[in-house]
Amino acid sequence: MNKNEIVRLLSDEENETALLQAADKVRKDNVGDEVHLRGLIEFSNICRNNCLYCGLRRDNKQLSRYHMNEEELLQTAKSAVDMGFKTLVLQSGEDMYYTRERMSRIIEQIKKLKVALTLSIGEREYADYKAFREAGADRYLMRIETTDKDLYHRLDPGMSWQRRHECLMMIKELGYELGSGIMVGLPEQSIESIADDLLYLQKIGVDMAGIGPFIAHPQTPLKNNASNNLHLSLRTMAVMRLLLPDINIPATTAMESLHPQGRIMALKGGANVVMPNVTEGEYRKLYELYPGKACVDDTPLHCRTCIGAKIAAIGRSIGSGYGGHNNRQPQLVNP
Ligand code: 5AD
Ligand code: SF4
Ligand code: FES
Repeated sequence: MNKNEIVRLLSDEENETALLQAADKVRKDNVGDEVHLRGLIEFSNICRNNCLYCGLRRDNKQLSRYHMNEEELLQTAKSAVDMGFKTLVLQSGEDMYYTRERMSRIIEQIKKLKVALTLSIGEREYADYKAFREAGADRYLMRIETTDKDLYHRLDPGMSWQRRHECLMMIKELGYELGSGIMVGLPEQSIESIADDLLYLQKIGVDMAGIGPFIAHPQTPLKNNASNNLHLSLRTMAVMRLLLPDINIPATTAMESLHPQGRIMALKGGANVVMPNVTEGEYRKLYELYPGKACVDDTPLHCRTCIGAKIAAIGRSIGSGYGGHNNRQPQLVNP
């Protein structure tokens, strides 16, 4: 597909159902009916960056900040494994409390639980990425957010698009499974630039692509912007599936936050992964990237049961393996 064809599909609201059905078929033919679950641990809401869209931005002084210590993090990981999760995702703001050494120690401990481990902790030095990989991390998730460089630099003050791209290249070179993705509906983001984003993700060869709607957060500079981007996000995700038929594509929490059936709509339109939140207690509410985040008042066990039932209700099954791209297996260590 070329850029014009992608723009046409993204713009065609009338034929959205047909597009999602086509993506659903491509999903089924290439990755089957299994839905892979990833237990998401939001272990720190402290961030050194100041992204205009994000509730965790450092200038949001109204948010109480937390980070889990190594003990708490390990306990959360253990409960998630006890619930049956075979992949854990450690996600946080860019919190430098987690030094190379501390983070490596955490990774080594968690890997003893025999899970696939994904990191989503932002931009770090090459030596950090290398150490984390050697400590046992299997996958890394970092959205490019947008490939419109001017837009990126307006929305992410002090950050560099080129640097972020280089981080993704380092991650790939180190042999991680690479996850990236974008937000859809950012202020002044054009359909053409979303088409470029999809072609970029295809070109760098992502193993996973997370696509979520932008949702305006009241304690950010973008508070007055519209958050009605669910359908464009679904179409974007469906086109991603057509472009990269066998990768992992999550039904994102942001979609669920805009519609009570958002993730199911996504699973029926090309997605094959869900990342239930396994963070416990108060921390769940405090990881407020955007308002109205789904499941903030629920427990990990409730969500695990809920999502299991929803997946069964659409005739799909929960993945029994680790769910790597092309069935790639995680590094497993002896405890
Ligand atoms: N709306 C939707 N998604 C957001 N993210 C951050 N802020 C928002 C928002 N206001 C997304 C970014 C980031 C991911 C962890 O959350 O894409 O990479
Ligand atoms: Fe920090 Fe990520 Fe939020 Fe930007 S999007 S402020 S890097 S947590
Ligand atoms: Fe959290 Fe349904 S997945 S309540």
